[in-house]
Amino acid sequence: MQYRTPTRLARPLSVIGQGCWQIGADWGDVSSDAAHAVLDAAVDAGITFFDTADVYGDGRSEQLLGAMRARLGADGGAASDLPFIATKASRRADPFAPESFTEENLRAWVERSRRNLGMDTLDLVQLHCPPPAIYREDRVFDVLDALAEEKKIAAWGVSVETCEEAMLSLEREHLASIQIILNPFRLKPLGEVVPTADAKGVAIIARVPLASGLLTGKFSPSSQFAANDHRSFNRHGEAFDQGETFSGVDFETGLTAVARLEQALDGAMPLAEASLRWILAQQGVTAAIPGASSGEQARSNAAAGSAPTTEQAEVLGRFDAAVRETYDELLRESIHPRW
Ligand SMILES: NC(=O)c1ccc[n+]([C@@H]2O[C@H](COP(=O)([O-])OP(=O)(O)OC[C@H]3O[C@@H](n4cnc5c(N)ncnc54)[C@H](OP(=O)(O)O)[C@@H]3O)[C@@H](O)[C@H]2O)c1
Repeated sequence: MQYRTPTRLARPLSVIGQGCWQIGADWGDVSSDAAHAVLDAAVDAGITFFDTADVYGDGRSEQLLGAMRARLGADGGAASDLPFIATKASRRADPFAPESFTEENLRAWVERSRRNLGMDTLDLVQLHCPPPAIYREDRVFDVLDALAEEKKIAAWGVSVETCEEAMLSLEREHLASIQIILNPFRLKPLGEVVPTADAKGVAIIARVPLASGLLTGKFSPSSQFAANDHRSFNRHGEAFDQGETFSGVDFETGLTAVARLEQALDGAMPLAEASLRWILAQQGVTAAIPGASSGEQARSNAAAGSAPTTEQAEVLGRFDAAVRETYDELLRESIHPRW
């Protein structure tokens, strides 16, 4: 596993972080045995960075991480040796209404996360895709600065939907991280967002790196998803931003794009590994955070965090050309103007 230390976070993060939405909810039924298997596999594979949110399973994901942290800390190591846990706040009241973002609410959400995670000082709190108006006001960011001064949080960042929101956030002096959808179907952040963040020492956390599983190549036109899986209930943005499901790519178009990418790889590397390694090869990216619904998936994704061999780098060079061509021909028109 490689580790990167973005200047404004000043803590090393494993380049593959463990996405922990699955161990909360919204991905069909993920049993608690499966959730523990994901976390155990991640820790065993050298993952030291976990991404969660207070709303994932209404706290289930945070509580599982809190229990993991307590187990790992039971033999009394320094807090800085424990895994880095990034959580998110701001979707516990109507997330589409700027009026939900009061100081009282923000403080209550952070208190709840501190309890769930069993941490006095949260490593990183990210605003969880707030409404666009919030980025233009100081008031929420002032509360985050106050929470940092009070040592309730060590750092704050934003999880954004659009590149415009990321660019607005980058104007803030104390912003430590940006979480954004970046994968072979979502290239726009590479234009302006990632280079600007890189120049300022702001971490870039690439979420939805496998396009909700499409970029593993395991789906077909007949794939079915459970009713409590967002890949059933949010395909057109019915519950939250459409871009969060399959990266906002129409499922059939996604399958066509996947076939092209598989063809370019010609069996030299599994598509999931190529996608993760391709993200990590982009200058300025700190980490990719694939989600997993089994220990096996977590283990396999973590393996993409090793430094690429010369042979792997050559494969990735060919893959990069295919990614850009596929994006331009199949995806750019629907993706680029929107996110
Ligand atoms: N607004 C936000 O801030 C926001 C939004 C979305 C995600 N996130 C964060 O980003 C993380 C990653 O995004 P994501 O989970 O939405 O999407 P993702 O990582 O692109 O896709 C995860 C899904 O891909 C499949 N998968 C993963 N690894 C696999 C492997 N090795 N082999 C086969 N299938 C594999 C699994 O599908 P199956 O379960 O079907 O097997 C898994 O549930 C989340 O867990 C969460 O922490 C944040």
